[in-house]
Amino acid sequence: VVSDPTHQDPIPPTIEWRQGRVRLIDQRALPGELRFVECASVDDLCDAISTMAVRGAPALGAAGAFGVALAARTLSDDANVRAAARRLGGARPTAINLTWGVDRALEAWERGGADAALAEAERIAAADVAGNRAIGEHGAGLVPQSARVLTHCNAGSLATVGYGTALGVVRAAHEAGKRPRAWVGETRPVLQGARLTAWELDRLGIPVTLIADAMAGSLMASGDVDVVVVGADRIAANGDVANKIGTYPLAVLAREHGVPFVVAAPTSTIDLDTPTGSAIPVEERPPDEVAVVAGERIAPTGVAAANRAFDVTPARLVTAIVTERGVLRPPYEDALRTAST
Ligand code: MRU
Repeated sequence: VVSDPTHQDPIPPTIEWRQGRVRLIDQRALPGELRFVECASVDDLCDAISTMAVRGAPALGAAGAFGVALAARTLSDDANVRAAARRLGGARPTAINLTWGVDRALEAWERGGADAALAEAERIAAADVAGNRAIGEHGAGLVPQSARVLTHCNAGSLATVGYGTALGVVRAAHEAGKRPRAWVGETRPVLQGARLTAWELDRLGIPVTLIADAMAGSLMASGDVDVVVVGADRIAANGDVANKIGTYPLAVLAREHGVPFVVAAPTSTIDLDTPTGSAIPVEERPPDEVAVVAGERIAPTGVAAANRAFDVTPARLVTAIVTERGVLRPPYEDALRTAST
């Protein structure tokens, strides 16, 4: 269901339903080990979401929907299913896709019970892969021949059910023979760029060079970046974009250096109920993600560490938003409303 069987994908589906369980690639173990977690209960899945075994906005949307299917099959009382759905939706606050997926599966369950919830989750998963391929096709037009593309965090196959959004654009450009090369910021503190994006691009045979996050400005100043392409966790009605911490400084740098700054995201990431970026809830994660690296404390014990997981890029710094329905250009208000209806 989750991928075209005629297409050999070198990266397995991030999330799928297998014999009554939700099976996930365990992203905490990459790149060292490609292993899977099987969630048999809503508790298991909530834990997988909050510890980032599964992460990335569209993957969280599918996780939320499969979670409701799991709740509907494993919990007896209707009130318990609704409570489980609320818990799933609250497991991480910033990516709107999570509550979007939960709500869609819950509505299906209200209408048709556990089977309908599962069918809806499967539909969301299949539509995610198809939508990402469409994002890739639309977005590849914004990638020049032999482009040096800078990306941040992981908006690849692993952040979705398959294919990826921002990396889907790079991948589609690669498949179209444009020979793109990627600069990947390591993405402190959880290192999604170093651990996940570099792993994916390497598997796909797309040239990739890892950089410390702090090198982006120097690269743009020396003329070595042709386009920045990133994903999104939530896009407000005015076009402000929440994405991984460190995205906003890239957009400021891109504007300063005349480099296009492109956001690739499915329409499920658009939240018309959130008027501007200042209303987007930004997740605070544990300080030890900053103070401890690979199990080793790198700061003096007792020193405070702040760990905002996302930042907000104002719409005025965004050159284009690529969705499965096409490329949106500023002003975004009307374009986003049209694209999401
Ligand atoms: O904290 P994470 O790893 O879930 O953050 C992920 C991102 O910021 C991605 O860029 C975003 O979800 C888009 S994924 C297609």
